[in-house]
Amino acid sequence: LFARDVDFMRSAVSLETLPPPDLPEVCFAGRSNVGKSSLINALTNRKGLARASNTPGRTRELNYFNVDGRLFIVDLPGFGYARASKTDIARWQQLTKAYLRGRPGLRRIFLLIDSRHGIKAPDIEVMDMLDETAVIYQLVLTKTDKLKKGELSKVAEKTQSFIAKRPAAFPFIVHTSSEKKEGLDVLRAEIASLALP
Ligand code: GTP
Ligand code: MG
Repeated sequence: LFARDVDFMRSAVSLETLPPPDLPEVCFAGRSNVGKSSLINALTNRKGLARASNTPGRTRELNYFNVDGRLFIVDLPGFGYARASKTDIARWQQLTKAYLRGRPGLRRIFLLIDSRHGIKAPDIEVMDMLDETAVIYQLVLTKTDKLKKGELSKVAEKTQSFIAKRPAAFPFIVHTSSEKKEGLDVLRAEIASLALP
């Protein structure tokens, strides 16, 4: 799937400007700076496709990518950024929550968690909301290159037992490093299984 065409399609700042839901789609959600845009670039093997940056709050719109005419990938703005203004937080909540709750065609939400930090309060808030909707979310532990093996397995174990009690959580977690290109094939296979044939 990812060896084929991947194109930036559009940025949406409101639900009205989303593309028509003509394809299945998956999205990347998570706290600011967790590595959403970097992971999309790593998965698609295209460096500057999604704009990644050191500055939390880089992605401010819903960015749509068309993968081979078979699937949309959506890069979402991050949440839980402490220094964000109240207006920004309110905007995120309105737009992204409405999107996550009610987007037709949304097949899976990848909820990214920084493996150094594990699940935090803002993640739980989002999971609480998602457990009320019908869409399955799957946790992805990112930046695994930053941890030692033992540290990573501790976080993984904790995260796994946390989602076991969550009704809409996909039962297994993916570990990725965009930096070291690890865990990408597992995630690519998951995504490919949700795309049009
Ligand atoms: P927002 O758009 O602000 O919500 O952030 P984001 O989740 O899209 O994060 P982004 O991809 O912009 O990455 C944030 C920072 O983390 C950048 O400095 C990246 O280089 C770094 N980063 C992302 N993925 C990895 C990874 O796998 N390993 C390491 N070491 N750094 C990473
Ligand atoms: Mg981003």
